[in-house]
Amino acid sequence: MSSIRVRYGCIRDLDDIREVETLSFGDESYPRDLLSYLLMEGNTLIVEYNGRVVGYISYICLGSKAHILSIAIHPGYRRMGLGGTLLREAIDDMKRLGIRKVLLEVRVDNDAAIRLYSKAGFKIHSILKGYYNGRDGYLMVMDIR
Ligand SMILES: CC(C)(COP(=O)(O)OP(=O)(O)OC[C@H]1O[C@@H](n2cnc3c(N)ncnc32)[C@H](O)[C@@H]1OP(=O)(O)O)[C@@H](O)C(=O)NCCC(=O)NCCS
Repeated sequence: MSSIRVRYGCIRDLDDIREVETLSFGDESYPRDLLSYLLMEGNTLIVEYNGRVVGYISYICLGSKAHILSIAIHPGYRRMGLGGTLLREAIDDMKRLGIRKVLLEVRVDNDAAIRLYSKAGFKIHSILKGYYNGRDGYLMVMDIR
């Protein structure tokens, strides 16, 4: 039987997270220092599948707002509900922290992520012209509570 576990990340997860990040974003991956900062100082949740780290989500809180900085699932473990599980857990976490609004940016052509976010209740707020190295993004927002 398969087991799925969501837990807080720590610095020991850095290599696993970097692998998922590189496989997911290639040249546009977050640098090692930023990932280690997020693991130590930010809010990072990890998802393990059968004991293996296969994804993560990172966000930061600014007053009553939270900003999702990244979410990625290892390519071999996608479409299994893990991204949705991570996102739901992160939002539950935010509610416990008193967050009222969640923001994120996504490339306009990232259909998988846009569907994931829309399914969770995010709405497109505005277009961010040229936000991703000249390519457009969406600012997506969700009110919680
Ligand atoms: C976006 C991402 C995190 C989704 O993770 P996942 O574990 O595959 O997502 P889930 O299996 O939980 O899917 C949840 C919902 O998202 C949508 N979705 C996910 N992948 C999709 C795809 N390839 N095509 C269309 N919809 C998709 C669906 O609505 C899905 O619900 P459904 O399975 O009931 O149809 C994953 O594709 C990923 O890591 N992508 C690369 C990194 C990235 O782009 N991150 C977002 C940056 S803003």
